[in-house]
Amino acid sequence: MMTSPRMEAVSDAHRPEVYGLNDIILCHTRISHVDGHLGRYRYRDYDAIELVNSCALEEVWCLLVDGQLPDATRRAEFAAELAALSTIPPAVTGLLPAMARLGERPDGIGWLQSAVLLLARSLDWRPVLELDRTVLRRQVLQTLVTAPIMLAAQHRLRQGLEPVPPDPGLDHAANLLHMISGEPPPEAHARALEQYLMVAAEHGMAASTFAGRVIFSTGADLGSAFAGALGAMGGPLHGGAPTLVLEMLDEIGSPDQVEPWLRDRLLKDERIMGFGHRIYRAVDPRVEVLREVTARLGSDRLALTQQVEKQAAVLLDEAKPGRTLRANVELYTALVMEAVGLPRSLFSATFAMARLAGWGAHLLEQRSGNRLIRPVTAFAGGPTVPVPSPAERGRTHG
Ligand code: COA
Repeated sequence: MMTSPRMEAVSDAHRPEVYGLNDIILCHTRISHVDGHLGRYRYRDYDAIELVNSCALEEVWCLLVDGQLPDATRRAEFAAELAALSTIPPAVTGLLPAMARLGERPDGIGWLQSAVLLLARSLDWRPVLELDRTVLRRQVLQTLVTAPIMLAAQHRLRQGLEPVPPDPGLDHAANLLHMISGEPPPEAHARALEQYLMVAAEHGMAASTFAGRVIFSTGADLGSAFAGALGAMGGPLHGGAPTLVLEMLDEIGSPDQVEPWLRDRLLKDERIMGFGHRIYRAVDPRVEVLREVTARLGSDRLALTQQVEKQAAVLLDEAKPGRTLRANVELYTALVMEAVGLPRSLFSATFAMARLAGWGAHLLEQRSGNRLIRPVTAFAGGPTVPVPSPAERGRTHG
């Protein structure tokens, strides 16, 4: 059958490598590198997994935001800076109860997004191109340290509980768990969450990072750039996946159901959550480290999840020959978050809070040599035709 030039143009515009900005270089960066073929990623000059296994979260934040791993003196200065920025403006505190009550379903990432915007509005954050780097860096750090306080408060208010203030004696991850549950967490839980927050702190030009950089490039304020990144993060193809992974494991239920459940899903051409990645073509290095963290914590779901991981790889090879679809970070993220006692409604928001560090680093980098990000489209419509007259359009006036 003959195809018209117009039809060819439409199908061309929807080729996956065209649609979705595959392999398009947006900018040069020194923040991170994701090597999809070797299955590795790095933060600045270091292998990310090595950092996760040997560093504290604040060191990784300092590395991402300021560009260097801190020595002991610098680390203490950085911690003091963070502590000084951890107060929520009273105007924002006053609005949190009303925000927490909105909507039928608890929506952690939505709470975080609204809270970040309120923070920016209440502190009169100016358009980014009017600000020097020092002011922007302070806003980035302020967002990093206040986000968990605002999120935990809304979670508790939603349940009719009083917010729990941060305990200055606890580190960031321990404090998050403490502010959610009201109890100081076991050390093993705090370290597991800290490792997760480092694993997920940064990951190249993820859709959310791109969204944030696009907004920043227009010169809007930093709160808007973070809010845009948070919006992109909430989708099921990005940071919304961990909750769906647990729902999948709940549905599968027992080892004998793994294969039939996965087959049924693939027969319906539906996606298996926690599998596949745009950049990683073989191994996602975050999977292994989070599997180890889960094993250390102990999780009733570990054996079933490992079976799903193995079986899905086989069935995805059958269903999608030519693509290597393997477990991604979200599969074990779900298990780690559940094992440390985070409620499901906060899974995506916790992922997003981890990524605030990477987004912040990217936005600061975008500040130097900023140029409006503005791609083009391939027009897939027909030739220009004259606009029909009002009479031809059947209109009487206007
Ligand atoms: N389950 C089933 N099929 C999958 C799949 C999955 N998890 N991931 C990709 N595919 C299939 C698609 O259906 C598509 O098949 P088709 O060519 O027959 O239409 C093909 O692989 C390519 O999909 P595409 O969306 O172009 O791949 P991508 O590289 O852009 O997708 C993801 C990356 C992450 C969006 C995708 O793998 C996905 O949706 N995964 C599930 C959600 C998830 O875990 N997200 C967290 C990511 S860290």
